[in-house]
Parts: sequence; C-alpha cells; structure tokens
Amino acid sequence: MSHDLFEAALAARAKAYAPASNFSVGAAIRGRNGKIYAGCNIENAAYPEGWCAETSAISHMVMDGEQSIAEVCVIGTGDVFCTPCGGCRQRLAEFGAADVPVHIAKDGGIVETFRLGDLLPASFELDRS
Ligand code: THU
Repeated sequence: MSHDLFEAALAARAKAYAPASNFSVGAAIRGRNGKIYAGCNIENAAYPEGWCAETSAISHMVMDGEQSIAEVCVIGTGDVFCTPCGGCRQRLAEFGAADVPVHIAKDGGIVETFRLGDLLPASFELDRS
C-alpha cells in the first residue's frame, strides 16, 4: 500500500538539486484526497536559502488545493537514516495529524515508520478558531 509512496519519493530524489551537500532527498506525501505529491531538496549557493524535499512536496500539495496529509515517505542518500529535520516536522504537522505515518526509506524500501506526533511531540499550534 505504501509502495507507491516509496516509488514516488525515489523518483523525486532523482530530481534533487544538491550541489552543496551531494545529499539527495526525495519526499512523497499522500493527501487525504488520495493523490500523491512528491518533491526533492533544492539547494542554493547562499546555503540557508536552500530547502528540503518535504517542503517541495508540501508546496505541490497546497498548490493542488489539498491541505490534509494522510501519509509521508522520505528517502535520503546511501545508508543514511533520513528523518525530517525540525523545521519540516513542524511544516508536516501544520497539515497532518499526530497519527499520520511517516515512513523512512532507504534504496531497498521502507525501513521504519513513525507517527508524526512522535517525531514532533507537544507541537506548536495556533488557535485557528
Ligand atoms: N534534507 C531534506 O531535504 N530532507 C530531510 O529530511 C533532511 C535533510 C536536505 C537538506 C539539504 O539539502 C540536504 O538534505 C543535506 O542536509
């Protein structure tokens, strides 16, 4: 079931622009609407101006009119266990509930799955009422 998400993250990783770190990352998000949104990291010679694969994937999702995340898959390069950075945990939590599964993959497939709420406990949330 999560295999399509893994394949999308893998394909996105191949598009990464990571000349600074040489560390390509792919992320794929399944929206509650069932569609898959993928993205890669895009770096910049002014280092802090680059951004993560998760951020690219979220951007595609939002621009498609979806704002609810059902499932996430992230894959880094080589044998690195690539979990979302702190900023991306917050970005994912903006659009995903605590029980959203976040799959971490390596080239052979998904190796571990976390709950988003376990990756970002006690997250900051604005009162939107
Ligand atoms: N990176 C991501 O795209 N997602 C993650 O989950 C962790 C790190 C990127 C940022 C930077 O372009 C490169 O990996 C090395 O840190």
